[in-house]
Amino acid sequence: MSSTLVAPRPLSVLADRADVLAHPERYRVLTGDRPTGALHLGHYLGTLRERIRLQDDGVQTFVVVADYQVITDRVDTRDVVANVREVVLDHLAVGLDPRRSTMFAHSAVPEIGQLLLPLLSATTLSELQRNPTVKAEAAGPGHSSIGGLMLTYPVHQAADILSVGGTIVPVGDDQLPHLEQTRAVARRMNERYGAGSTLLQPPQALLTEAPRLLGTDGRKMSKSRGNAIELRVTADETARLVRAAVTDTERHITYEPQRRPQVASLLLVAALCTDRQPEDVAAEVGSRGAARLKAVVTDAVNDHLAPVRARRLELAREPDVVRDVLTAGVERVRPLAAETLARVHDAMGLTYGLQGSGSSNHRTSQ
Ligand code: TRP
Repeated sequence: MSSTLVAPRPLSVLADRADVLAHPERYRVLTGDRPTGALHLGHYLGTLRERIRLQDDGVQTFVVVADYQVITDRVDTRDVVANVREVVLDHLAVGLDPRRSTMFAHSAVPEIGQLLLPLLSATTLSELQRNPTVKAEAAGPGHSSIGGLMLTYPVHQAADILSVGGTIVPVGDDQLPHLEQTRAVARRMNERYGAGSTLLQPPQALLTEAPRLLGTDGRKMSKSRGNAIELRVTADETARLVRAAVTDTERHITYEPQRRPQVASLLLVAALCTDRQPEDVAAEVGSRGAARLKAVVTDAVNDHLAPVRARRLELAREPDVVRDVLTAGVERVRPLAAETLARVHDAMGLTYGLQGSGSSNHRTSQ
């Protein structure tokens, strides 16, 4: 990872990628997405690609499709199932191997929802209210009031991670406050109920070379802003979108992320898709200007994504593939989450000697 691209962060929050590579068996990945639509280049370069690398490096990998997070800022659930399908297809197309890695929908694992309750008891209102990502989302268009789920979803997300024992979380930098929250809540649970041992392991984030990609309008790439290049679009559509991207009026192309963020973001996309440094792409375009830069970006993206897009089209024709992945995922995750919940209940002394209160008698209903 090029250190020039990522601002320094408090080290404890960030996982040491070299150690993960050296000891993949010591780590477990849990990360996820809100299924509000098909995934785009920002997801791909920001985290999706890294998930596949971690899987291929031998780290056990879990991906939650966070359907409950959809209703943090909207009420309409009609598109959720179709969007979950898109998110699963995107993962399979970029290389998620469902034999090794696990994808599951949030709402299919009730144990996560139940772990949320003790975690909420270890969370303060001021923590929730000062979360900058929540604040930004709550200030989005059309939000006259903030629902309880909007305020508490970072803790719900902590429950996702802690339920399956995720220790590294590859995410974009907007998710770092949620990671801090997860770590705080895990530590507090350990202090209160751990009796000197680690009840819940505080996870670490893993940022990539592109923790925040700009969209075609120069703001953060995001489905809801309509400025995203989805992985599934055609090569022609990609060319059209890139051509419409905002740049600046300086003809000579240079890589200066602070001063020329839009140009830098395009350079970064081309660089990451062709395994080069953005400075080298800039030097190649030089005085040929933004039009040339956009042509370079379009080719880089289209060449890089061609096999992904071909695989995606093939997968989308198979009727059961998404359902099978999600069913297998729930079957793997529920026992893990039940075990975590039972461990927490034990530590809290909430055990009644009842049959079936622990993980061993647990059955999935699917
Ligand atoms: N909030 C994340 C996003 O909007 C999605 C998410 C849900 C997630 N649960 C998670 C990410 C657990 C990492 C870990 O993209």
